[in-house]
Amino acid sequence: MKTLNENTAANVVASQLNQLLADYQIYYQNLRTLHWYAKGRTFFALHSKFEEYYTEASEVVDELAERILMLGGSPVHTFAQYISTSKLQETEVISDGTKAVELVLANNEYLLNSVKETFKLAGEAEDEGTVALLSGLIGSTEKRIWMLKSFLQ
Ligand SMILES: [Fe+2]
Repeated sequence: MKTLNENTAANVVASQLNQLLADYQIYYQNLRTLHWYAKGRTFFALHSKFEEYYTEASEVVDELAERILMLGGSPVHTFAQYISTSKLQETEVISDGTKAVELVLANNEYLLNSVKETFKLAGEAEDEGTVALLSGLIGSTEKRIWMLKSFLQ
């Protein structure tokens, strides 16, 4: 594995991983908002599901940050950096179950594209560790997207 000092491709990968880290932090907080403000007949299902999702997201955040450190980079760590770096918007309060799931689906579709772009860059940089990390993330995100779409049918 090459570090930032040895390889500018690693630098590109670390920078893209920081983008993902910021995106996942905003996604995490969006899920907490939706978990807290859920109302109505889908409350029990979505309150629990969003908790499961944000718990997964927090694990992803940690994996991304530690991968950045392994590559010799510095993970973004402040809320100000997350807001300025992320391409995801912080959600407003949503209590309607369908609208909440639509938002989570849109966030996941963005994340999937972003993870796939980073996966390609990591492959080009011959960074197999990042490829392995992101490969699992692609599969689990695709499965989540299928489930969210099923909920909305
Ligand atoms: Fe809770």
